[in-house]
Amino acid sequence: MTTAPPETPEIKATPFDVQTIRRDFPILAQTVYDKPLVYLDNAATSQKPQTVIDALNDYYTTYNSNVHRGVHNLSERATDAYEQVREKVRGFINAGSVNEIIFVRGTTEGLNLVAQTYGRTNLGDGDEVLISKLEHHSNIVPWQIVCDQTGAQLRVAPINDRGELIVDEFTKLLTNKTRVVAFNHVSNSLGTINPAKELIVKAHEAGAVVVIDGAQAAPHMRVDVRDLDADFYAFSGHKAFGPTGIGALYGKPELLEAMPPYQGGGDMIKSVTFEKTVYNDIPYRFEAGTPNIADTIGLGAAIDYLASIDFDGAVAHEHDLLVYGTQALESIDGLRLIGTAGKKASVLSFVLKGIHPYDASPVLDHQGVAVRTGHHCTQPVMDHFGIPSTFRASLAFYNTKEEIDALAKALEKVKKMFA
Ligand code: ALA
Repeated sequence: MTTAPPETPEIKATPFDVQTIRRDFPILAQTVYDKPLVYLDNAATSQKPQTVIDALNDYYTTYNSNVHRGVHNLSERATDAYEQVREKVRGFINAGSVNEIIFVRGTTEGLNLVAQTYGRTNLGDGDEVLISKLEHHSNIVPWQIVCDQTGAQLRVAPINDRGELIVDEFTKLLTNKTRVVAFNHVSNSLGTINPAKELIVKAHEAGAVVVIDGAQAAPHMRVDVRDLDADFYAFSGHKAFGPTGIGALYGKPELLEAMPPYQGGGDMIKSVTFEKTVYNDIPYRFEAGTPNIADTIGLGAAIDYLASIDFDGAVAHEHDLLVYGTQALESIDGLRLIGTAGKKASVLSFVLKGIHPYDASPVLDHQGVAVRTGHHCTQPVMDHFGIPSTFRASLAFYNTKEEIDALAKALEKVKKMFA
């Protein structure tokens, strides 16, 4: 069966030189088992440009110090660099103010923060939280936990066999009991791009607050939280060419102001006595303890890097790769693509007839091809398709058509070995 190619996103295609871009990412130049590395596991984590590596090195070499505390030179430099990143993140997702940006470890922590602060305070018996079957476990389990704690019910909007959320069913599940709606902007295991704006309008009409998992969107498209009118939006630095252990949660200021703290400790208070503690203003109220200073600065360097390249060209290049990859994989006998949404970001999930992905992984690895195999932290998605796992090739703008060809060749080898 031939799948209709995904629709081309409405962006201005501009010249984009992938070979120049690749030189910014030193890790890509290596060989693995004497084969050129073909890194197609970008949805798990992306590679880092030299400027991000240099920013980390520079911080530790020249101004490593704690932030918001000392009045000495190093601490002031560290604080300035750290707080400048809040402004960079604000610009990156077009939030209205730096006060709306909370630094977190990553998307998972951002979603847990919302569930345990906004959710725990505002949910009660008889209330409902609506998610979708397309979610990563990190946008399922935090809601299960808070539902257990509050007596709220979890509702799940179904998906179709292309891996798209069924909007009519989602709409039917929105009622006057729905308090929170949470879904991903882009599916990590299938690449489906959700119609976020449309879903947010519907959720708001029902009076719900909307939480978006933006982990797989931020590296692949321009994100505008104000245009989306998202109430909360979380993303991870390491999937967007920055370091691990740092991400950001955006929240509308009136919601953040009304939320209790997430964790207690230093920096999140104005004053502490045994009789009464006064909490700090937003966003610091949600950032207890010494933060991840170095990686925040690294995230700033990643955002600067993305601003310095032809990002629209990068998005167009990635889309070309997705179309090319879809065609290349579909021409492999016995291969079935899992996730064929009309609007897709650069994820190619698939199964090979009669071959378990876990068995085949070492063969791909020995060809230098890095893909992820497994359920990708989306077991309900796997259940929908009646499979335990998939191969997943996930692309970034530094990938090439030659690398897709290398994947296709390695898959033919897998087929021969397991025939
Ligand atoms: N959530 C990451 C992935 O999809 C780890 O691989």
